[in-house]
Amino acid sequence: MTQVQVLSDKPALIAHALDLIVDTINTTLKEKERLTIALAGGSTPKPLYEALAEKSLPLEKIHIFWGDERYVPGDHPDSNQRMARQAWLDRADFPAANIHPMPTGSNDPSLDAQTHNQELEAFFGVKAGELPMFDIILLGMGDDGHTASLFPQTEALTISDRLITVGNKDGQPRLTFTYPLINNARYVIFLVAGENKRPALAEIFSPDGDETLYPAKAVKPQGELLWLLDEAAGEQVKEI
Ligand code: 6PG
Repeated sequence: MTQVQVLSDKPALIAHALDLIVDTINTTLKEKERLTIALAGGSTPKPLYEALAEKSLPLEKIHIFWGDERYVPGDHPDSNQRMARQAWLDRADFPAANIHPMPTGSNDPSLDAQTHNQELEAFFGVKAGELPMFDIILLGMGDDGHTASLFPQTEALTISDRLITVGNKDGQPRLTFTYPLINNARYVIFLVAGENKRPALAEIFSPDGDETLYPAKAVKPQGELLWLLDEAAGEQVKEI
C-alpha cells in the first residue's frame, strides 16, 4: 500500500520519520529476532540519524546496510557510510558485526557489487536468484528523480537478475540496490524535502510520468510504501 504524508517543514518530517522508524523497529522485534534496515545517503536523512543516536534501541538486534554508496573509501567525505557513522552508528553501541557497509575498496566497482551481492545472500540465507526481504529501506530522491544510485536512463535501471549493481552518476560509479531488492522490502520510506524536489515529484505522482526519467517512480514495494514529504516538496502532491 502507498501512503503520502506531507509535514509542515523538514524538522517535522524528521521527527515523524523518527517516531515511525522507532515504532517499526520495536514492533518488528516483537515478532522477529533481528531487524534489517538499509540507510539512505545524501543530506536529508542526516538529522534523522542524529536523532536515532539519542534513542535507546535494541542495537544488538538491528543490522545496518546501505541502499547505495559512492565509490570512495569508507572514510571519504562523500561516503554515505561515513555520514551515517558520524551521525549515528559511531555514537551508539552497535556490535561491529551488525554494520554491513558496501565494499568500495577493490578498485573494481563490478567486483565489489558482486561481493556485496554475495554478502547479502549469505546474511539472509538466500540462494542466487532469491530475493532477501529488508524490514525497512530508507530512500532519498534527487532533484532529477533518482533514488539510491538508480539514475535516469542508466543501465542500473534495467538490472533485474541480482541484488546489487553499479550505478552511474555523470560517469562516477556507485554501488546500488537494484529495483528487485528494493521492491521486495516490507517497508520503504522516502524522505524528501525542499522545493527543488517538487518538479520530479509532480512527474512521479503523475500517471504519465516516465520511470526511466524519474527512477523513484518505479519503487513499488510488495510491502508498504510511504512518501514523507515536507510542504516545500510536497505541497502539490495529492494525498493518495
Ligand atoms: C546518495 C543518495 C541519493 C540521495 C538523493 C537525495 O548517495 O546521494 O543515496 O540517492 O538520497 O540524491 O539527496 P539529498 O537528501 O541530499 O537531497
